Amino acid sequence: MGGRSDFDVRFAELTLAASGQFDYSIVDVFSGNPDLATMNQLNIEPLHNDFGARVTGTAFSGDMSDTDVALIRDAIDTYSLLCFPDQDMTDEKQLAFTRLLGEPEAEHVTFGSTGKVTYFGTVGNVQDDGSKRGNAHASTRHQTGNQLWHSDSSFREIPSFVSILHAYEVPGEGGATAFASMRAGYARLAGDMRETIEPLHVIHDYVFSRSQVARVDPNHAASLPPVMHRLVRENPANGLKNYYVGSHARSIPGWSGIDSRRLLDDLLKRATQPQDIYAHHWQVGDTVIWDNRCMLHRGTDYDADRWRRRMRQTRVVGHEKGVIHGSATR
Ligand code: OGA
Ligand code: MN
Repeated sequence: MGGRSDFDVRFAELTLAASGQFDYSIVDVFSGNPDLATMNQLNIEPLHNDFGARVTGTAFSGDMSDTDVALIRDAIDTYSLLCFPDQDMTDEKQLAFTRLLGEPEAEHVTFGSTGKVTYFGTVGNVQDDGSKRGNAHASTRHQTGNQLWHSDSSFREIPSFVSILHAYEVPGEGGATAFASMRAGYARLAGDMRETIEPLHVIHDYVFSRSQVARVDPNHAASLPPVMHRLVRENPANGLKNYYVGSHARSIPGWSGIDSRRLLDDLLKRATQPQDIYAHHWQVGDTVIWDNRCMLHRGTDYDADRWRRRMRQTRVVGHEKGVIHGSATR
């Protein structure tokens, strides 16, 4: 696979950089793309041995240079998680940038329950009118579902490519978002385990996962039937594989419930050991992009009675289509 050797070189450099052995720079990272590398001021510092980078030297907007957008796309394929500090963000800029990466995804809670298309999800406890919701509010409880490891929109027929989340207000304590890589989890699997999971499919089901923590509106539930995806996915840009699990992953078609749960829980656990996790402690002005095709994330607790947390999220529609379970043609 052509891209793979480039990736291995970058990955070795990433590991060295994480151990502080040399100063990481865009020229090192994008060695496969020297023209792009020299034409811009992006700086990249790795955040974890397996994934993640902090990126400075660019400002989000709808008229970002083609070069920066190309570099960001390349960095998504390589690092899976990108953190951009000190962004002077607005909803307009965020949506315009989102469109530069692809088609914005309709926010599914609003669309499912009301039929209206909006592109923003508000994460946290602050409403559009500025008022704050406490721990007891249904919306705060509903969001505790995000504290289970998941990949955004894995329950959709076409799951998300990336999520983009910007922080406007952050708690003084708690409320970090944790990330872990199913690509790294796959890379650590023994060969026989890779062979076992290669041909399998997995059903992802929003109602299955969310009803464990909160009531799901019936219209919303009806809009999201269970969907079947391949358990092993591959990034076409670099040939790197990952498995595709998380809280929405319900079962393996053809397997018993108990065997399904054993496998899915085992794969999740293998990706989310303490040393596999990067926890992002938000600062106001952070914009974070993650690759939902291969990453897991989860929110962590904060006291919504005490603190305000206001973040705005957009997502980009992915390229790989699953099959609605029950109407499958294969
Ligand atoms: C999300 C999410 C968790 C959090 O934005 O998709 O799951 O940190 N967030 O609240
Ligand atoms: Mn999420």
